Amino acid sequence: MLPSYVPALPDGTESGKYVAIDLSGKNLRILLLTLNGASKEDVSVVNNYIIPNIIMKGTGEQLFTFIVNCLQKFLKEFNLEEANLPIGFVFSYPCELLSIRSARLLWWTKGFDIQDCLQKDVVELLQDALELNMSTKAKIKAVMNDTVGQLAAAAHKYGSDCVIGVVIGYGCNSAYLEETAKIKKFNAKAASYNHDKMVVVTEWEEFGNKGELNDILTPFDLEIDDASVHKGKQIIDKLTGALYLGDLVRRILAQFVLDGELFGGTHVEKLDFSDTFPTKYISEILSEDVESFKIARRICDELEVSVHGTNDYKIIREVCHTVSQRAASIVAAAICALLRHMGRQSVKIGVGGALIQFHPTFHTLLETQLIQMAPLDVEWELVPVDEGSVKGAALIAAVAEKLGI
Ligand code: GLC
Repeated sequence: MLPSYVPALPDGTESGKYVAIDLSGKNLRILLLTLNGASKEDVSVVNNYIIPNIIMKGTGEQLFTFIVNCLQKFLKEFNLEEANLPIGFVFSYPCELLSIRSARLLWWTKGFDIQDCLQKDVVELLQDALELNMSTKAKIKAVMNDTVGQLAAAAHKYGSDCVIGVVIGYGCNSAYLEETAKIKKFNAKAASYNHDKMVVVTEWEEFGNKGELNDILTPFDLEIDDASVHKGKQIIDKLTGALYLGDLVRRILAQFVLDGELFGGTHVEKLDFSDTFPTKYISEILSEDVESFKIARRICDELEVSVHGTNDYKIIREVCHTVSQRAASIVAAAICALLRHMGRQSVKIGVGGALIQFHPTFHTLLETQLIQMAPLDVEWELVPVDEGSVKGAALIAAVAEKLGI
């Protein structure tokens, strides 16, 4: 669990213009949020910029200059280049946080590999790039994990009972509101932190690093772990995240073929390579009516396989469902652990990320599992917010501004 140094969630009274920058994988997202206090008539505009591969594996200077150039272009559209706007920066990579505006990068995930940023403060790197650019006056107010943004956006929308935020995107993680006195590893006095509460990032994606999940790992999970850039780390991500679920299905299908159960046992070359079965295929296949195989047929065409009857499509569908169901069960178990730890009677759980937004059955699977597992004395509700992490980051910038921190 990591302290976030975020002392409060938005309560709806925030107003003004705020910017959020969200660096989550290949997509850089920049958002402008205009808050109108209690009237709740907030307006947000968001733009997506694809980060070129060469930058994802280049230098820190290239990455942060790219981000600032995108920001400048974005703000120019609204004539806000010169405005002194507060920025909330979402940086969801393993970091050590030293204050609300300081995050030291421990290691990269999600396809990035920029060695000269390791152990550096990414807020300083971004702020330096902003200053070098000179034409943009925006200032970083807060840096945070995406789960903190998700929690803030959900609390803003659903009220003060919303104290847990869960992101099930490329990876899976959560944040919750804790009483500062209960955070054992955090010395508030030494850190001159004088707020009663703090958002804690659970980093539950790292559960399993000490072998705690070995009993449930399948040979396919072990293969995925072996092939990853951080073997042995972030096991929960590998069981639940959109970065991995498609590849898990691909490996299982390849085994079915080897066993002679699928495609008449004829070898499928494309299934030998990672990235040939993206997670969006799972969403597409599960969005189709059970009697219809139009989408499954299209995907089989893309995989260049010769299908031997509708049973093949049924197997593919079943594998997609099973992999999704297991992911939902694991996320539900993690949420239940948090509900037990918090011991509150009534909790709203703000959920977001690609699997919530785009996977047609994930939300229901998660809810069904929670009904079975959640402590009976807790009243809970799953509340989704699309684009939660980036909206929430702008909201946290607003909270930081309001509290003068
Ligand atoms: C990965 C990241 C974590 C992030 C999560 C959801 O688990 O390590 O920081 O919150 O993905 O995006």
